[in-house]
Amino acid sequence: MLRAARELGDRKCAYLHLFNHYFPTQGWDGPFDRALAQGMKNNFNGSVVLNGYSRDVESAERDIRDGLGDAVAFGKLAISNPDLPERMRESAALAEWDATQFYGDGQKGYNDYLAITRKRMTIGPT
Ligand SMILES: Cc1cc2nc3c(=O)[nH]c(=O)nc-3n(C[C@H](O)[C@H](O)[C@H](O)COP(=O)(O)O)c2cc1C
Repeated sequence: MLRAARELGDRKCAYLHLFNHYFPTQGWDGPFDRALAQGMKNNFNGSVVLNGYSRDVESAERDIRDGLGDAVAFGKLAISNPDLPERMRESAALAEWDATQFYGDGQKGYNDYLAITRKRMTIGPT
């Protein structure tokens, strides 16, 4: 694994994505093999994105603080909180997602969650 991280870095991969299978309802309850994640980070010459924290934002923040990665990608939380960065910045409550709406046919469950913070969004040149 460490060699893979080294070789991917040598080949100038844009980033390395480490996925923590944290999915308690499926019996995958993590946490990261933090020593392995640290080894991957140390051996990869580029940015490391951590993923798979479900709603465990505290652990994600801890792992960034501890230098296991450069950024965290949130999946399910980003679906149910369209203003996730603002909510985190303002320590606002995080909305639950409805897993029964995942992998459906239509738009329901993807773009109908509400933003509760004022979004500062700019499109095009200002
Ligand atoms: C409804 C849904 C759709 C997803 N679609 C994709 C996808 O198209 N490609 C992908 O790489 N990962 C996809 N994922 C996986 C997420 O990117 C992420 O790896 C996973 O949700 C774990 O992160 P989380 O704990 O922050 O949710 C999807 C996840 C969900 C719940």
